[in-house]
Amino acid sequence: MNTKVTILGIESSCDDTSVAIVENQTLLSSVIASQEVHRKYGGVIPELASRSHQINIIPVLNEALSLAGKKMSEIQAIAFTLGPGLLGSLMVGTSFAKGLSLALDIPLIEVNHLHGHVLSHFLSEPDEIPNYPEFPHLCLLISGGHTQVLKVHSPYSFELVSTTIDDAAGEAFDKAAKLLGFDYPGGPVIDAYAQQGNPFRFDFAKPLKNELNFSFSGLKTSLLYFLKDNIKNNPAFIQENIYDICASYQRTIVEILTEKVILAADKTKIYTITLSGGVSANSEIRKKFSDLTSQGFKVFIPKIKFTTDNAAMIAVAGYFKYLKNEFCGLNASPYAKFTIR
Ligand code: KG4
Ligand code: ZN
Repeated sequence: MNTKVTILGIESSCDDTSVAIVENQTLLSSVIASQEVHRKYGGVIPELASRSHQINIIPVLNEALSLAGKKMSEIQAIAFTLGPGLLGSLMVGTSFAKGLSLALDIPLIEVNHLHGHVLSHFLSEPDEIPNYPEFPHLCLLISGGHTQVLKVHSPYSFELVSTTIDDAAGEAFDKAAKLLGFDYPGGPVIDAYAQQGNPFRFDFAKPLKNELNFSFSGLKTSLLYFLKDNIKNNPAFIQENIYDICASYQRTIVEILTEKVILAADKTKIYTITLSGGVSANSEIRKKFSDLTSQGFKVFIPKIKFTTDNAAMIAVAGYFKYLKNEFCGLNASPYAKFTIR
């Protein structure tokens, strides 16, 4: 019996078109085409995103096959993101996945995008010794659309411990970046500027203190009023203080995230933590969570390439479903919203 399963993953939930190929949990290739078209609009424009997916998907597929050294005929199943995300974007990946499954007569596996982020920790590369988190563990999932702490019982069972009651951590970064005049997505720009600033120069609001759930809209509002007040006296306030503003604002987000995770760990008595989602690319978040090991935590920080949206995580999530014959039909229909179960 062939114990190696080759899965092709497709991710198109937002503004990244990605195709990846895994052999069991080993990543053979992962190609991502990011859409620059949204940068000047300050956010993702859904109609432009779906058009770009249509243009990108075939070249991205061909490159992923070529890098993996695989032919289409060697693929045993197609895993794809069914939701949550932008419906038009999801529709492109979903239709493409269905077409491939039909043409090749191989199973189709629908993957929840958030499960993909969580399971990105179960990918390994051909030249490395796998080091996967044990179960149960807590996953801090921080992206542009979600901020949650999940108790991960197995690759098939996820329990929501806490979530944001308003904005996601990524929105807290991106909306602040917009106020400061940066292009979308602003998270990486704030991260870069913060590295040259004093994180203790300014203080911003920390809503929902001592509670498990997150709230970021008050923080963003506190930045807005802080900027307005200071610009009244000095119109060049932002330009003159940009590094310290970024560093102080970022410090506040990092403190909120670490405080909530420590609270969740004490409540659940689970001290193995994984980070996932685009915001976990943030250098200060990675540093602060790595430091938790000195307090007895076991912490798994993802490789940067597995933090933002990618099809590798979708392919590996598909692998786990393949093992249980969890396939879907051609009637699978994309969904925009989903709260992790
Ligand atoms: O996971 P992701 O690629 O897409 C969603 O599923 O939402 O996350 C995108 C988010 C954006 O809000 C972006 O600003 C943020 O991740 N991000 C960062 C950094 N890199 C990406 N936020 C802070 N610091 C970074 N270095
Ligand atoms: Zn994502």
